[in-house]
Amino acid sequence: MIKVIDVAYPILQVPSLNKQEAFLKDFGLVTTKKTNTELYMQGLGPHKFIHKTIKGKKKFIGSAFYAKSINDLNKLSKSEDFSEVKKLKSPGGGFVVEALDPDGLKVEVIFGMKTKKFNKKDLIAEPFNSGGIGKETSLRKNQPRRVGKPRSSKIKKLGHLAINVSDPSVSFDWYNKHLGLIPSDKVELGKGSGIYVALFCRCDLGKKLTDHHSFLLQSNLSSDLISGLNHCAYEVVEVDDIFLGHEVLKDKNYKHEWGIGRHYAGSQIFDYWRSPYGHVHEHQTDGDLFDNQVKPGVIDISEAAGMQWGPDITKTFGNSEGV
Ligand SMILES: [Fe+2]
Repeated sequence: MIKVIDVAYPILQVPSLNKQEAFLKDFGLVTTKKTNTELYMQGLGPHKFIHKTIKGKKKFIGSAFYAKSINDLNKLSKSEDFSEVKKLKSPGGGFVVEALDPDGLKVEVIFGMKTKKFNKKDLIAEPFNSGGIGKETSLRKNQPRRVGKPRSSKIKKLGHLAINVSDPSVSFDWYNKHLGLIPSDKVELGKGSGIYVALFCRCDLGKKLTDHHSFLLQSNLSSDLISGLNHCAYEVVEVDDIFLGHEVLKDKNYKHEWGIGRHYAGSQIFDYWRSPYGHVHEHQTDGDLFDNQVKPGVIDISEAAGMQWGPDITKTFGNSEGV
């Protein structure tokens, strides 16, 4: 077993890369490379790309994760489920091992992708005056706040990938065994049933904090979902980016799926949009950060179904494949 350190990118397949690129730019990503057959998009962080699309029939191909070392790829390549170590031809190069998970969804584990130059300042939220008394609550002094409207969201990084699977427990065992993912919250179908309809998973980085969930396994059984993409979530710089992005995507007549609200599991402020091909993309910020000492929570399905505030979850939410 190895311990992956983060999610890297989703791999989607759609008929028109031009249409896909236009949506992703409005969503806030920037083109790294576009060929006749592939599209790679980046955010403001160090990664060469955080979103990959292949030209073809609409389909979710799979998920990519970052390994800590080339040694970890070698270890995985010895497992029956994984390929030998191959060279990546995508921007930044590097190496990859590939597998199919229990639902036949592709998994890439990569190492050695070169990073790009980036400005740390671009990733930091503007000082926020939260009110109250005392200098510590007034961070922005004699300085008006100007957000530069209209503009797309500023995207820091890939937050998490969520996939629909036949049985989250079976999938979890696979991702835990091979990639070292650990549970953050288990969503139970009825108290004490021991049947989990969703498993929010994080990477095991020891004492280092990481996102409450980098990967979410959602059961197909609780609805008419089919195995494949539930949604892909991108972390934006600050809360203004949730609302600014919302305005841009609304003005361009993209289909809004769900939001704006604050989740229960993971606590993020969220907003969900559909690409022209129906793949659900999320803007999110202010999520929980856990080290590996936090024990998994068990939450009732009614709480996890959604949010602490915001509109009710839509009936079509999570169905990125059929819509
Ligand atoms: Fe999400």
